[in-house]
Formats: sequence, C-alpha cells, structure tokens
Amino acid sequence: MGNGRAFKSLCGLAFALASAGAAGQDGADARRLAEETRKVAGDLVAQIRGELTKELEFSGPMRGVIVCKYTVPEISSAMSRKTGWRVTRVALRPRNPALGSADAWEQKVLLDFERRAERGEKPDGLEHGEVVAEPGGRYYRYMKALPLGPLCVSCHGAPDKLTPNLKALLETEYPHDRATGYAVGQIRGAVTIKRPL
Ligand code: HEC
Repeated sequence: MGNGRAFKSLCGLAFALASAGAAGQDGADARRLAEETRKVAGDLVAQIRGELTKELEFSGPMRGVIVCKYTVPEISSAMSRKTGWRVTRVALRPRNPALGSADAWEQKVLLDFERRAERGEKPDGLEHGEVVAEPGGRYYRYMKALPLGPLCVSCHGAPDKLTPNLKALLETEYPHDRATGYAVGQIRGAVTIKRPL
C-alpha cells in the first residue's frame, strides 16, 4: 500500500521531470532558431546597407534605384537558395507589389511593430519570431523591422522632397508605388524569413 503510493508519487516526479526537460528542450530549440535566423536577417540588412551606401555616395539616388531593383532582390534570393528559407523584404505599403507585399501573418506582425514603436520601443530593435502551422506544414517565421534612416529619405521620404528626376524614374518603374511619405524613424517595412521545420 505504502509502496504503491511511493511508486505513484515517484512516477509523478518522473513525469514532472520529463515535461520540464521537454520544455527546456523546446526553449533551447526556440533560442537556436531565433539566433540562426536573426543572423541571416542581420547579414541581409548589412549587405543592403553596404551596397546602398556605396552607390549613393559614388553615383547618387538614380543609380541607387538600380541597387534596390536588381542588387537587393539578387542578394536576398542568393540567401534563400543557400539557406533553403524564404528570405525577403515586405511592407504594408510596398513599392514593388510582386516582391514587397506582406501576407496575412506579416501584416499582423508589421502592425504590431507599429504599435510597439508607438509605445516607445526602439524601432531598430523590433523583431518577432514564432513557429506557425500552415496548411503546407510547420514553419519558423521571423521578422525584423526596417525603420527609415537618413539614407532612405531620398527614395522613401515626402514626395515633394524627391528630386524631379528620381520622381520621374519611380513613376515610370513603379506606377503603383505606395512607398513614399515616410519620416525618419517610421517603420518602412521588415526583413521576413520563413524556414520550413
Ligand atoms: C535609391 C533609392 C532607394 C533608397 C535610398 C532606398 N530604397 Fe527602399 N526601395 C527602393 C526601390 C526602387 C524599391 C523596390 C525594389 C523592387 O523592385 O523590388 C525599394 C524597396 C524597399 C523595400 C521592399 C518593400 C517594397 O516597398 O517594395 C523596403 C522594405 C525598403 N525599400 C526599405 C528601405 C530602407 C529601410 C531604406 C534605407 C536603408 C531604403 N529602402 C532606401 C528604392 C530605394
């Protein structure tokens, strides 16, 4: 009798330990997923910034548009091929609807970033990652906010601040552009990563 009870409570303890272990494992997995994914997002941001700075410095915003239209999508698709994850940039008001439109999950996260920024969080540090079940399987999804910096104003700032040449170029290349009128510090969009699990 007494032994029975002892056995039961031992089982209870073993069960409690096992589930604590599993939770610990999940926690470690979540940390590993976040760290690996954050690193790729950081690489993308650094490479884009490097290419843009170089081009804006040497050739000005007209050539910068070429970087944004060809070089940036090439860098992100090379990262996607290498990692096997979808690595790209999206926005609530995209310039290029084909590449830049946010899906339902991304829209939710972008709106949440805006709310967090309004509540005083630094836009630079805004990120979010979670495991999401979709009809096609489970994914780790991650986003990092891209706030507008001084470097971005020449192409995403107030329309009356864009040079006439640049405005004309954008109107020809992107007749459905929704990505002007941003002030420094506002969230222009985000890096988004989706990795199959
Ligand atoms: C020289 C002009 C130029 C500058 C400077 C520039 N962008 Fe862009 N941006 C573009 C163009 C052009 C596109 C559309 C690229 C494409 O065709 O996919 C774009 C697209 C984007 C997108 C993808 C979503 C969308 O709207 O289609 C994000 C996010 C973005 N820019 C953020 C930034 C940030 C943040 C900065 C500053 C670090 C910046 N941009 C600086 C021209 C520029």
